[in-house]
Amino acid sequence: MRLTYTSDLWWKNAVIYCLDVETYKDGNGDGIGDFRGLTQQIDYLAGLGVTCLWLMPFYPTPNKDDGYDITDFYAIDPRLGTLGDFVEFMRTAHDRGLRVIADLVVNHTSDQHPWFKEARKSKDSPRRDWYVWSDKPEPDDPSMVVFPDKENSIWQYDKGSGQYYLHSFYKHQPDLNVANPEVRDEIARILGFWMELGLSGFRVDAVPFLIENVEPKLADPHEFLADLRAFMTRRKGDSILLGEVNVPYRQLLDYFGDGLGDQVTMCFDFIGMQSAWLSLARGEAEPLAAALKARPRPPKDCQWATFLRNHDELTLDKLTDEERQEIFRAFGPEKNMQIFGRGLRRRLPTMLGGDLRRIKMAYSLLFSLPGTPVLFYGEEIGMGENLDAEGRMAVRTPMQWSSEGGFTMAEPVRRMPDGPFGPDRVNVADQKRDTDSLLRWIQLLIERYRECPELAWGRHTVLDSGSPHVLAHRCDADGASVIALHNLGRTAEDVELKLEGLENYRLTDLLVDGTSDVSEQGVVRLPLGPHGCRWLRAAPAEVPPEDASVKADDSFTHPRRR
Ligand code: GLC
Ligand code: CA
Repeated sequence: MRLTYTSDLWWKNAVIYCLDVETYKDGNGDGIGDFRGLTQQIDYLAGLGVTCLWLMPFYPTPNKDDGYDITDFYAIDPRLGTLGDFVEFMRTAHDRGLRVIADLVVNHTSDQHPWFKEARKSKDSPRRDWYVWSDKPEPDDPSMVVFPDKENSIWQYDKGSGQYYLHSFYKHQPDLNVANPEVRDEIARILGFWMELGLSGFRVDAVPFLIENVEPKLADPHEFLADLRAFMTRRKGDSILLGEVNVPYRQLLDYFGDGLGDQVTMCFDFIGMQSAWLSLARGEAEPLAAALKARPRPPKDCQWATFLRNHDELTLDKLTDEERQEIFRAFGPEKNMQIFGRGLRRRLPTMLGGDLRRIKMAYSLLFSLPGTPVLFYGEEIGMGENLDAEGRMAVRTPMQWSSEGGFTMAEPVRRMPDGPFGPDRVNVADQKRDTDSLLRWIQLLIERYRECPELAWGRHTVLDSGSPHVLAHRCDADGASVIALHNLGRTAEDVELKLEGLENYRLTDLLVDGTSDVSEQGVVRLPLGPHGCRWLRAAPAEVPPEDASVKADDSFTHPRRR
């Protein structure tokens, strides 16, 4: 595939790296990460090969929900720096070829936001209608409560003004009323502001809550998303919206803008993620294979964002109770590891028992899945969690730069884990020197993923691997093919694949040295070690593999064709 296509639609095979400025690197020695510290690490990120940074909320906040409770959408939290520091960071990131997107959290504000303070003053406050008020706490469906450990209703009585306000999340996060055109205008203004400062787009927090679970109901919830997207496109044609939309596949397509692709550009594949965990727990390919088969094709120019872990709990809410229990038993048997009755507050390496071979296979799987992979900071070195931290904060500990920690010269405000996943055992500096480290492996996966745009762009097919433990899939685009094999099981497997249309082709291994020839009948045997993985590029025997993905057609309008 031509680089002109993949750079045009840059998000379709980007590698996104999520981080929180607060926990990444302290630049002024007060124990809290900040923009100056982060800016100093940009060469590390560029060297890792990621192409787009996703910054978790960095706005002024009382910090009762780790910054997802905002008091000013147009400023930087003073603990993290100034707007000046932000602009310096953006410039440096762009200089190293990195794009930046940021969390857009406009379903709600903090109850300390001046808008809410004004709104709650009285029923006739000019800001009253910026939030959602009711005389009766209705509807009151306990299943709508997102954080059941802290809340038991989505309505909170406001004594001063004598009405209830809606809060989909914590009670200190009153929902904005997006049915009010003034609020919608303000949201566009926020997008415009940060885009002017160089952002390439936004990770949109809690999209279904923003547009769908809304009181009063929007006449057409999706029109609001399409309007936002159109506004962005007018301002900056290649900007994106990456939606946090955890709903079943059949509803998800609506968020892309059914058929048109004019709403969110990318959606996280929560279903694929949960199925991948079930596959990991069982050591069997079937759950993930089923999700890949069920996953709808997003509209033209849209893409799936794939991930294994993020900053929240590992939510298992779309699985059956039995499946969830299976994963709990395998990866989080202790009550203290579980949260909200639906998830785990652990990182991947601890769940996989620190087994490096299995961890490497899991990330190889992530990078080979059709879509755009998203990493959560620290995944590249295999950081663990600190279960002593409260709730979801367990996985939001400071980045482990060196054996002493390396995050700050002061006493860090948040604590790193001790024991086998402490900084003395898991850190960037050591892994840079070790060619077998997870860091080097992730770097290799990123490099190969970027060299194989077929994985992201192509039409994918799940192949019959002949073994319940091995997931085999194939991605084809523009006459080029990449095949990936992942052994979820603990024993070696001898896989035999039938590869239609690749008769007499040669397969070149992309993660190790080696080639295998496909027979005249289109059959090839590919052995895999325990938790082994292989990526293979297919080329006619006479074409060198490095040329096998480039076709002559170089028209700029190409990406518009299906
Ligand atoms: C999203 C975020 C989560 C946050 C919540 C409320 O789900 O991922 O971290 O607590 O929204 O803003
Ligand atoms: Ca600091």
